[in-house]
Amino acid sequence: MPYAEVNDTRLHIRQAGTGPVALFIHGFPLDSTMWIEQLAYLSDIRRCIAPDLRGFGRSAPVTGAPLTMEQHAEDCAAVLDLVSAEKADIIGLSMGGYAAMAFADMFPDRVRSLALIDTRAGADSDEAKAGRDAMAVRVIDEGRSAIAVAMESGLLGPDASISARARVRSMVEGCLYETIVGALGGMRDRADRSEVLRRVTVPAAVVVGEMDEVTPPEEAAAMADALPDASLTVIPGSGHLSPIESPAAVNEALRSLIDRTEATPDAVQG
Ligand code: MLT
Repeated sequence: MPYAEVNDTRLHIRQAGTGPVALFIHGFPLDSTMWIEQLAYLSDIRRCIAPDLRGFGRSAPVTGAPLTMEQHAEDCAAVLDLVSAEKADIIGLSMGGYAAMAFADMFPDRVRSLALIDTRAGADSDEAKAGRDAMAVRVIDEGRSAIAVAMESGLLGPDASISARARVRSMVEGCLYETIVGALGGMRDRADRSEVLRRVTVPAAVVVGEMDEVTPPEEAAAMADALPDASLTVIPGSGHLSPIESPAAVNEALRSLIDRTEATPDAVQG
């Protein structure tokens, strides 16, 4: 099932492993390849499914309408339907975390566990909203390469490897400008989901790079406090893209979340 028709669009879906489903939701303006280390590492205990969200990666292009977190959550639910998974471990990075929180809000019974990586629960401030609009104008005026270099240094910690830098730049450069603009609108308009976290009673993990300047460790600590059953892992030296920068540490945090989840009665159903 590398491609599937889902909610009036065509998604590319990366898969590895067998077992209960774990769903990986990528960040902006990235794609499912950001998870390759996690898919390889967890494939012995989970059927890992990582869609390219609508408009991203190898999924079908979109026009410039806002790509809302609710739409991504609906698409993720439809992907779970396709593989007949009632529940999944939901893992999201940054924008993928916003979508994961929308999913937990809209489909609470389908969340077996929740991992929120380098993300935040709150909505954009007015300043952040203005920044989104400015970035959209810049992409339209100057093209993707104008933001690729800026994003590479803004997203990664100072010690990120050359290959991490190359991976990030190639994902940003490969993201269509319509998708970038639509995603900026969707993130700008997203809801504050801080209260949603208080209702997530399944095991949860919050992971953040120590050097994450986009969604800093204080935001992660606030999410871990709000979640009734969450661990907090701060990854030394990592920036905003810890699954790429520090894959082993993220893998370990995810495995320990899954181990904790397995200890929960009926958690592996579906
Ligand atoms: C991301 O990594 O998904 C974005 O940086 C999130 C954001 O801009 O809020």
